[in-house]
Amino acid sequence: MYTIKTFESLSSTNQYVKDNYVSLPHKSVIVAKHQTAGRGRFNRLWQDEEGLNLLASILIKEDNFSYPVGQCSLAVALAVSKALDSYTRNLIKWPNDILIHNRKVAGILLEAISSNSLHAVIIGIGINVNQTLFPEELKSKTTSLAIETGHLLPLEPTLESIITHFEVEYEALKRGAFAIGEYEARLTTIGQQVTYQGTSYIAKGVNPEGALILEGLHKRIAITSGEVEHVSLYKTSQS
Ligand code: BTN
Repeated sequence: MYTIKTFESLSSTNQYVKDNYVSLPHKSVIVAKHQTAGRGRFNRLWQDEEGLNLLASILIKEDNFSYPVGQCSLAVALAVSKALDSYTRNLIKWPNDILIHNRKVAGILLEAISSNSLHAVIIGIGINVNQTLFPEELKSKTTSLAIETGHLLPLEPTLESIITHFEVEYEALKRGAFAIGEYEARLTTIGQQVTYQGTSYIAKGVNPEGALILEGLHKRIAITSGEVEHVSLYKTSQS
C-alpha cells in the first residue's frame, strides 16, 4: 500500500524523505508541485517550473535488502519507462535516464540510508511533463511529455502508473526475479560509442548485477556507477 502525500513546495522531495524516513511508513510517496533545491545525480541541480512536472520520492524501508541496490536503480528506470510507454516511445540511457528522441525526459536519483537496524532507499523521480521552456544550457538535451505529445497531461495518472509498474518490478526484485533482459531491451546505450572517465569504449551490455560492460581498445570493464556519455547522443537531435 503506497501512501501519497503532496506538498505545494519543498526544497527537495528526496531531502524531505531523508529528514523524515524514521517516521514515514514504508512505501511513502512524497510529491512536490515545486522544488526550490531539487537535486540531480552528481550534485547537479534539478530545476522545475512550478506545477508543471512530476517530482516524487518513494521511500522503501526494509530490515534486510535481499537484492543489489544497483538493480533497484534499473528496476525504477524500467518502471518509469513502461509508464511513459502509454504516451510515447522512450528509451533508457544507462543507468536510469529516460530519453525520448535522444533528449532526457526523466531522471532518477537513488539515495541509500543505512543506520544500525534500519535500511532505507529513497527513490527520487523527476519527469518533465508539461514544461516546454528550459534553461539555455539544457535546451538541446532536454524534452518533456508535452513537447513530445503536443498536449498538456495531468500529473496524477502518470504518478499512479509509475507506482503500479514500480510495484511489479519491486516484487520481482525481492524474489530475485528482476527481468534484466527487459531493461536491456530498452537500453539505448548498448552498441553505442561512449566515453567514460575520458576514455572511449563501446557499450556491450549489462551484467546480472546491472553493471554496464564497456569494451575499449585494450580492456573490458564493468562499471557500477559514474556517468557515460553517448558520443552520438545529441548529433541526431541537432541535425
Ligand atoms: C538526474 O537525472 O540527475 C536525477 C534527477 C532526479 C530528480 C528528482 S525530482 C524528485 C526527487 N527530488 C530531488 O531533489 N531529486 C529527485
